[in-house]
Amino acid sequence: MPLKFNGQSEELEGDGWSPLAPARRSPAGSCRSRSSVCWIGAVALCLGLLLLSVILVAHTTNKVNQWDAKYTDLMEQLWKGQDGQPAEQNMLRAPPSNLTRELKVMQNQHNTLAASLDRLQEELNRLNVNRTDLIQLDARCSNMIYELSKSKKNLTAEQEQLKTQFNNLTGEMEALQKQYDSVVASRDQLQEEFDRLNPKSNVTERMCPSSWIKFGNKCYFVSPSSQKKNYANSRKDCQSRGGDLVKITSRLELDFVKTHRAIAWIGLTRAEDGHSWVWVDGTTLENHEFWQDGEPNNADMEEDCVEISREASAWNDVPCSRSFSWVCES
Ligand code: BGC
Ligand code: CA
Repeated sequence: MPLKFNGQSEELEGDGWSPLAPARRSPAGSCRSRSSVCWIGAVALCLGLLLLSVILVAHTTNKVNQWDAKYTDLMEQLWKGQDGQPAEQNMLRAPPSNLTRELKVMQNQHNTLAASLDRLQEELNRLNVNRTDLIQLDARCSNMIYELSKSKKNLTAEQEQLKTQFNNLTGEMEALQKQYDSVVASRDQLQEEFDRLNPKSNVTERMCPSSWIKFGNKCYFVSPSSQKKNYANSRKDCQSRGGDLVKITSRLELDFVKTHRAIAWIGLTRAEDGHSWVWVDGTTLENHEFWQDGEPNNADMEEDCVEISREASAWNDVPCSRSFSWVCES
């Protein structure tokens, strides 16, 4: 439709139309003068442009949405794989060769570690068993130690008691021995006094207890041939019978003893000094004529007691631990 501006008829159609065209063709003031037609045209032009913009925006938004959906699909496919499994698993099914190698190495490492873990588990189980055994053993040991220490305490106390008893008894025995010695000494003194005061006493026959033998003015007990004792026990036996081991003072007496026992203890021992000899009554040996030839020789440095020699009617030093017959006198 032809439009008229400023009285001129112009056609607004074809490629030559442009909203600025009137401005190019005439000064601005000329459009204002044709007022309403000019404004309607401008508004129409703006609406057209607006519509075009809306169409363009809608089209672009649609495209963007399509690309977005495609992208999401791709991502999902990538993530899930073809059979709905995570993509990593698909990648593991058909991984590239370097990944296969790495996978194999890792698999080997995994197997090695698993084997080590099994071994460690077995070891742990074994150690646990051992630990249990050890705990039980420890408990038993502790118990035993406790019991033993208790026994030790009791035994120590008993030992102390016995020691005290032993010391007391030793003291008592020594006191009794002293008493006995002094009673014997008194008896001998009284006997001498009696003999001196009684002129008939010299002819008085001394009586010996039964199983004792009288020889001269003394009584002798000769041990049974079936019995043998060491020196100390032999002497004890004599003392228990009211006498002591024989003190030989003459050849006659020595021969008398020898005829009753070929070998027997007599009451003579080595003195503390290691050289001299002492009788049971405490007197020192003066007459050395009865030693057998070559005796005393202290063989093996341990012969402190004296026997009637097996070889002759003489004396020999021997170890006090030997067991022989014995002869007592009173
Ligand atoms: C020796 C003694 C010694 C004795 C010990 C004899 O052969 O002559 O001197 O005392 O053995 O058994
Ligand atoms: Ca000897």
